[in-house]
Amino acid sequence: MDRNTIIIGCDHAAFAMKEKIRNRLLELAIPVQDEGAFSEESVNYPEFGAKVAGAVSAGAYSRGILLCGTGLGMSIVANRFPKVRATLCNDLFSARMARMHNDSNILVMGGRVIGDVLAMEILDTWLNTPFEGGRHQTRLDLIEKAGDLCGVALPRTKR
Ligand code: RB5
Repeated sequence: MDRNTIIIGCDHAAFAMKEKIRNRLLELAIPVQDEGAFSEESVNYPEFGAKVAGAVSAGAYSRGILLCGTGLGMSIVANRFPKVRATLCNDLFSARMARMHNDSNILVMGGRVIGDVLAMEILDTWLNTPFEGGRHQTRLDLIEKAGDLCGVALPRTKR
């Protein structure tokens, strides 16, 4: 696993935000793996979401960032992958809670919902807030076996 590098991806609706996020990470001396998109030409967000979430799920990267117009589509795609905890954070409180309570490993934001200044503050908060563990770890463990809680067969997390 690459513990330091953050893998990032977006669609056309959040291309401009992705460029700013990448520059901010590099400013902070955090290495970036940029999976695109690389322009504002219309693309399908699931393709980029799957690249980033798949890599985090497989353990190749410990953290990722996904951006689309609202953040909703990327959240839906990313959370299909085992061990991914993608959190849509379009405000600072959510960013803090996403780390403290949910141990978020993919930050999702909506390029058409929030401005760049807030996005950078959300990024900094998400990067710098530790997971609290304890009862929250118990709940995350339950998420990994959510199917068992209601008798539905979900894909198992590989360990
Ligand atoms: C693209 O038009 C838009 O649907 C996408 O960026 C995202 O908001 C989807 O949830």
